[in-house]
Amino acid sequence: MDSNDQHLHFDSLATKRVEVKGPVNSLSTPIYTSSTFYLDNAQHGAALCLQDSVQDGQSPWLYSRWGNPTNDVAERLITKLEVGRSGLTTAATYVTSSGMSAISTALLALLHAGDHAVFPTNIYGGTHEVITDLLPKMGVSVTCVDPSDINNFVNAIKPNTKMLYGETPANPTMILTDLAALGNLGRTRNITTVVDATFGSVYNTRPLEHGIDVVVHSATKYYGGHSDLIAGTITSANAALHDRIGHYLRLLGGTASPHTTFLLQRGIKTLHLRMERHNQNALRLAQFLQSHAKVERVHYPGLESHPQHELAKKQMQPGFGGMIAFEVRGGADAGRRVIESVQLITLAVSLGGVESLIEQASTMTHTMVDRDTRERSGITDGLLRFSVGCENIDDLIADLTQALEKA
Ligand SMILES: Cc1ncc(COP(=O)(O)O)c(C=O)c1O
Repeated sequence: MDSNDQHLHFDSLATKRVEVKGPVNSLSTPIYTSSTFYLDNAQHGAALCLQDSVQDGQSPWLYSRWGNPTNDVAERLITKLEVGRSGLTTAATYVTSSGMSAISTALLALLHAGDHAVFPTNIYGGTHEVITDLLPKMGVSVTCVDPSDINNFVNAIKPNTKMLYGETPANPTMILTDLAALGNLGRTRNITTVVDATFGSVYNTRPLEHGIDVVVHSATKYYGGHSDLIAGTITSANAALHDRIGHYLRLLGGTASPHTTFLLQRGIKTLHLRMERHNQNALRLAQFLQSHAKVERVHYPGLESHPQHELAKKQMQPGFGGMIAFEVRGGADAGRRVIESVQLITLAVSLGGVESLIEQASTMTHTMVDRDTRERSGITDGLLRFSVGCENIDDLIADLTQALEKA
């Protein structure tokens, strides 16, 4: 016992900080749950609050909404993966409390009243609500376009356009946005480009390599990979954009929990193994579904029948991801019978986990999108969204075969 503590009462002894003895050499990242971090002296605290550099040997941590060592490890790991072969040395990442937190924070940080932004007609339902509800309330106007042709983005640009936003492959229609063309358009017109790359995962698609400014992910999906956490990521190689996003992340408070970022790091250690299986299984299942008499249409970028298969080969490497959309002959009712008949595959929203999940977009994940927008973006009533997991391929084919018999 510290001899200086001998005068203290039981309640003070119980609550007083006890330092970790080091060095510890922990191979896995410790979960630093501390909301706040003790300061060496007043000058140390003042420097951290002003975001000035601290003296050698001093802790850079002030308060976990502003930054946390467990989160920092996840952020640096994700940055390396997102940078890929782009050679960008200035990239940095924020891990956020959800994918929606990543998206809303990036949009609120980068758009102001009077600005205009261009979005794809088909996007994730939550993002759709942000652009139809939240952004207009802030005085930001939005134009939605079919993202499969870059000219639609070009034609939508106005003098006050400040953002071009992509989601590729799109949830749930699997429409692709040409990342190199979008990045190039943003650069030549001096407009910030933001891309949600959740569906393909960082293993298959790295928008920074194609000149995109800001990449967002729902890390709840492939990054986490086990359907046991909610998180998001925002990565940018532009320091000014990154700082602005960081400022608003601190104000909006969408910081991730260190418990979550620990799980995230653990998930990432097997991301490449999981993705290899997702890629293989999904391609085989897309081919199986395409040749099945009860299936009307299959949307998978790895199929030659996908209208953007050539683009997919350019910007989805080494595979085409684990997400498939398909329509069963007989429309919504037939589709409903299929999702209620699966046994190995689970009827649930979300995606990107090791277990296969299936859902009906029009009545579940995209029910908040009005019918007209759903129809314009190809979300038919019967469209099923299938997140192909890491199970044995023969078992998956057997399950779908018996479920399709009930269609
Ligand atoms: C493409 C895409 N972006 C963002 C989100 C939102 O992510 P979260 O649920 O982690 O907030 C989702 C959720 O399904 C998604 O599919």
